Amino acid sequence: MTRSTFVLSALFVGLLAAVLHQSVAATGANQELGSPERGNYSVSNVNGSVCLMALMGLQLNVSYSSVSQNKTVAAMINLQPNITTPSGSCDLDSATLQLSTDADKINLTFRFSLNTTSNKYHLSGLSLSAVLADMKEESPLSFRNDTLEYMWGTLGHSYMCRDKQTLTVTKDFSVQTFKLQVQPFGFTGGFGAADECQLDEDDMLIPIIVGAALAGLVLIVLVAYLIGRKRSHAGYQTI
Ligand SMILES: *[C@@H]1O[C@H](CO)[C@@H](O)[C@H](O)[C@H]1NC(C)=O
Ligand SMILES: *[C@@H]1O[C@H](CO)[C@@H](O)[C@H](O)[C@H]1NC(C)=O
Ligand SMILES: *[C@@H]1O[C@H](CO)[C@@H](O)[C@H](O)[C@H]1NC(C)=O
Ligand SMILES: *[C@@H]1O[C@H](CO)[C@@H](O)[C@H](O)[C@H]1NC(C)=O
Ligand SMILES: *[C@@H]1O[C@H](CO)[C@@H](O)[C@H](O)[C@H]1NC(C)=O
Ligand SMILES: *[C@@H]1O[C@H](CO)[C@@H](O)[C@H](O)[C@H]1NC(C)=O
Ligand SMILES: *[C@@H]1O[C@H](CO)[C@@H](O)[C@H](O)[C@H]1NC(C)=O
Ligand SMILES: *[C@@H]1O[C@H](CO)[C@@H](O)[C@H](O)[C@H]1NC(C)=O
Repeated sequence: MTRSTFVLSALFVGLLAAVLHQSVAATGANQELGSPERGNYSVSNVNGSVCLMALMGLQLNVSYSSVSQNKTVAAMINLQPNITTPSGSCDLDSATLQLSTDADKINLTFRFSLNTTSNKYHLSGLSLSAVLADMKEESPLSFRNDTLEYMWGTLGHSYMCRDKQTLTVTKDFSVQTFKLQVQPFGFTGGFGAADECQLDEDDMLIPIIVGAALAGLVLIVLVAYLIGRKRSHAGYQTI
């Protein structure tokens, strides 16, 4: 009895360690550039009230022909909120957020669409226009995709993704969002209930699994203790 209890306990501890190890490994891998600072960007309608709000850190990954390296390279750029200006518009079924940064050398535009039948919105378009110091091209780099399907949320709710999320726009341009919360429609002075991304929901699973493993361990020890006590009790009676 005690031996099988020991084996089971060891199994649970092993499972626990494996889960913990995995969660550490998942968050431990950090890239060299570091996470971008979180910006607080909003767009107001003609009446001057905020109609779109976004809290997020943004990192751009742009491939371009470098003059100094004489080849195509990927530049990683963190948007600095203190030198970034938001602008945009809010309409019934579409909303845009344009972020101009670094003295207008980089313009990044988010386009959100609302389906007024299903009351679901999503990020449908992203575009970038940028002038980088080291690039070969004379005209600004330009990337655009208007058939994206990211950040699905319900009208009146905000969309949230605490985890790093990669938005692939074209083969040469992607955006990584950090600690994102955005509400492009039905914003009334504050964020609505948050619709969370799948990545966050997966993260929530880890504490649940750890909790369940601990509960199982406690249960086994308790059962083993009770059985052991009953046995020794029975033992005394026979003597
Ligand atoms: C973002 O800015 C608005 C004002 O523009 C402010 O009311 C709000 O509290 C800010 N949110 C955060 C999280 O800093
Ligand atoms: C602006 O305010 C007017 C009067 O309160 C209102 O009728 C109108 O719908 C508002 N427009 C927007 C875009 O919120
Ligand atoms: C940047 O994008 C390039 C090309 O898509 C990709 O190979 C590279 O891994 C990306 N870098 C990061 C840090 O995500
Ligand atoms: C740039 O690379 C190309 C081929 O990759 C080569 O032919 C050319 O000489 C290089 N130019 C310079 C300035 O290094
Ligand atoms: C913006 O913030 C960064 C650090 O977050 C700082 O180094 C830089 O000087 C600031 N720039 C301006 C114009 O305030
Ligand atoms: C809007 O949602 C409805 C119901 O889910 C769907 O049938 C329709 O195709 C959607 N419209 C667009 C433009 O995606
Ligand atoms: C960014 O937008 C501003 C104003 O809309 C414009 O003057 C500037 O040329 C744009 N920059 C690029 C790189 O397209
Ligand atoms: C735009 O995004 C869609 C969906 O992610 C993708 O299938 C398509 O290839 C992209 N278009 C371009 C020009 O990269």
